[in-house]
Amino acid sequence: MALDKPAPNDLSAFWMPFTANRQFKANPRMIVGAKDMHYTTADGREVLDAVAGLWCCNAGHNRPKVVEAIQKQAAEIDYSPAFQMGFPKAFELATRLADLAPEPLNHIFYTNSGSESVETALKIALAYHRARDEGSRTRLIGREKGYHGVNFGGISVGGITNNRRFFGQLLAGVDHLPATVLEENRFAKGQPPHGAHLADELERMVAIHGAETIAACIVEPVAGSAGVILPPVGYLERLREICDRHGILLIFDEVITGFGRLGAAFAAEKFGVVPDMMTTAKGITSGTVPMGAVFTSSAIHDAFMTGPEHMIELFHGYTYSAHPLACAAALATLDVYREEGLFARAAEMAPYWEEAIHSLADCPNVIDTRNLGLIGAIELDPIPGAPTKRAFSAFLKAYEKGLYIRTTGDIIAMSPPLIIEKSHIDQIVETLREVLQTLD
Ligand SMILES: Cc1ncc(COP(=O)(O)O)c(C=O)c1O
Repeated sequence: MALDKPAPNDLSAFWMPFTANRQFKANPRMIVGAKDMHYTTADGREVLDAVAGLWCCNAGHNRPKVVEAIQKQAAEIDYSPAFQMGFPKAFELATRLADLAPEPLNHIFYTNSGSESVETALKIALAYHRARDEGSRTRLIGREKGYHGVNFGGISVGGITNNRRFFGQLLAGVDHLPATVLEENRFAKGQPPHGAHLADELERMVAIHGAETIAACIVEPVAGSAGVILPPVGYLERLREICDRHGILLIFDEVITGFGRLGAAFAAEKFGVVPDMMTTAKGITSGTVPMGAVFTSSAIHDAFMTGPEHMIELFHGYTYSAHPLACAAALATLDVYREEGLFARAAEMAPYWEEAIHSLADCPNVIDTRNLGLIGAIELDPIPGAPTKRAFSAFLKAYEKGLYIRTTGDIIAMSPPLIIEKSHIDQIVETLREVLQTLD
């Protein structure tokens, strides 16, 4: 009985993540194929992907080089343990990733997702201080509206209410900086001019708790999931200065900004501010095989490399850390990024994208438009008493018109593959303009 095939249209068993399950199952939106900038739906329609899946397919969909690398790898070795054993491509990939990152981020710890990268970085931060006899540094600082995945460490330092409120006490000893959302930055193009002073809240936390109790401060250089929140000019620099002054590790969660989204390999490079650790995932394999990576500075890595040589230095890791398929996919993805110059291409397209996003500022109910690199957001005035409904109906209408966008709250957020052409940007804007004009 259990092995019988279910009825083809039975959707009930799959409890879908971050989805209005009942709404979806009454009106399924099934994707059955993908190529370059498009998805193909079950009813045979082409849908333009303005989100790169979920901010991950930076090289576009089903790129032959990546597909072939995965197929070849699967036929060669299915699985290889990374605990006390090695797989050559994992080392090759780590070297290439470290080369791509700014100095001194020279060491790579593999995970399988952004959430796992965050947990890993937080644990490394705590263990690092302990390894240096500064074990009193246990406090973690996150930020309001921050998104750091869905595991307990990540939702503790994260600041999105619905991701936290249902799940108990969370980690103790966590504080949150204010979000960098200011009225006076509305409709700003690129990095918002106001708000560097919001970083000074970290000084206030040092004053309250004492620097010797604070292990790390984690922020997204550009927040995506909360609806595209940009760092004001000078803000990240100031956070770096305060962290340096007080021996606090600065962690950039680059899960969406990594691998070209801002027109540079990482936000750290784009903003010229280098953290002590970077958490990444998504674009590392262009979304093809689950993989994440934490980049750590040499100082952090080296602090663990003490004690007897037969001893494990860090009691942490995942069965699938450095999975062969993920390593092969990541190496091929890095080749595609390099051969096609996709990070530079994102930078070249960014001004056209900026104009396109802001051209929607005069549409009904639009209360903000913002952009950076190949990221854009259009914020809508919520329907009184029915928050999120207006944006969700924009999502549904856009999908009917052959455009996939993402909404969070009443914000439309977009982050297209870096292979996007100007004609695709035109199509996005024209479709959104039509949609916004017909919304309640
Ligand atoms: C900044 C950031 N951190 C962490 C995550 C979690 O990544 P994952 O869904 O792969 O666990 C995300 C996902 O969107 C993210 O944007």
